[in-house]
Amino acid sequence: MIYGGGDFVGEYRITGGARLTGEVTIGGSKNAVLPILAATVLGKRSVIHNCPKISDTYCTIDILRGLGCDVGFDGHTIVVDARGIASHHLPEDLMDKMRSSIIFAGGLLGRFGLVVAHYPGGCSLGDRPIDLHLEAFRQLGALVEEEGQVIYARAKKLAGARVVMKKTSVGATQNAILAAVLAKGTTTIENAAREPEIVDLQRFLVAAGAKVTGAGTSTVIIEGVAELGDVEHTIMPDRIVAGTYLAAGAITGGHIRLNNVVYEDIKPIADRLADAGVTVTLEEKAVALAAPQRLAAIDYMATGPHPGFPTDMQPQFTAMLATAHGNSIISEKVFDARDKHVAELAKMGADIRNVDRKRFHISGVQRLHGAVVEAHDLRCGAALILAGLGAYGETVVGNSIYVERGYEAIHQDLQALGADVKFVTARSQNNPKPQDI
Ligand code: UD1
Repeated sequence: MIYGGGDFVGEYRITGGARLTGEVTIGGSKNAVLPILAATVLGKRSVIHNCPKISDTYCTIDILRGLGCDVGFDGHTIVVDARGIASHHLPEDLMDKMRSSIIFAGGLLGRFGLVVAHYPGGCSLGDRPIDLHLEAFRQLGALVEEEGQVIYARAKKLAGARVVMKKTSVGATQNAILAAVLAKGTTTIENAAREPEIVDLQRFLVAAGAKVTGAGTSTVIIEGVAELGDVEHTIMPDRIVAGTYLAAGAITGGHIRLNNVVYEDIKPIADRLADAGVTVTLEEKAVALAAPQRLAAIDYMATGPHPGFPTDMQPQFTAMLATAHGNSIISEKVFDARDKHVAELAKMGADIRNVDRKRFHISGVQRLHGAVVEAHDLRCGAALILAGLGAYGETVVGNSIYVERGYEAIHQDLQALGADVKFVTARSQNNPKPQDI
């Protein structure tokens, strides 16, 4: 597996037109597994099931190994033994590849009283500061200093405190929780993010012996404990992968069923799909989708922190509404510049006016046409694959490495639903001959 570039380059080749039918099972959540893997540095031996085989998971494992953890990955189960941690330094090259690597800082600071980190990379969606993370560490009593791109945080012993988030942030909430788990006394995080992945992190920590309550609400309370023990945990299903496949079903006028989905978690997505004329029905641990031949436009919708509509579904919905009947407006309210899919969709015939990078006016066209396009970030790539499913002719989506950050095998899942999608890789320099896999 590669991440962030390597010997192989990949692309998806999609021939549009098939109405999706059938069923697939949704795997473990990227945004849950990454903080939970970071949380393992606080404990001893962690056994984590249902881990997605995506490049971000492999990158996180490399960070754990770099710190001195013993890590095994067998099937979808990762076993981390954190007893041998020998370093508090998060490597710059890996932090540059993945923004969520900053989540290691809280755990390391909490356990060792010291962490050296670098400003993280990840998908570029506009300005992505980490001031809220660092402010939370300070509120817990750490001395945080920055020298260029390097961050030093230290504290003899963190002390429980009232941590007030100036803005709702998933990552900063998780980092504050991780820093507080072994702190002396009680920490209250106010204006905490409420994403289901934070609830999964709480479940993992509680199973390991931490005292955390309130995840999923805007106030999380952590009573510091002396140490964490061994733990076994199963990662929650990926609600964004589920949402992406629902949008794929909708865009093709399909009838599909997704197994292993928590309905409450995807409700903000299902509600907007209903606005577009799509029926999403709750079944036991599954959802069924039935879409009309042509979707209706959504007059106005906006992204927002959970339980709002997830920003990680905005590009896919922009692609979906590009062929809906009528005019739609999507307002991106979480990130400043999550709009790289718009210019690529235009190459396929989409009529989207992009106002100040955060507001998209979409005039639905009858149908898109195939084109050669490029993924510029993870969900941009997903959106282009979906657009290709509904388009006339062949669409080639380049830069598969972005898509591989968050989808274990999107081509196989879509093939199982009847789509004509091929994943083609070639050795980037030595072997330019493409190879179907
Ligand atoms: C997480 C998700 C990402 C998702 C995002 C929003 C993971 C691994 N990633 O990212 O897929 O798109 O939530 O749902 O879980 N902000 C600040 N200062 C900070 C931190 C954030 O101003 O210190 C701002 C960001 O620029 C952004 C907003 O807060 O505008 C929300 O970002 P945040 O919730 O922190 O996103 P991530 O945790 O990075």
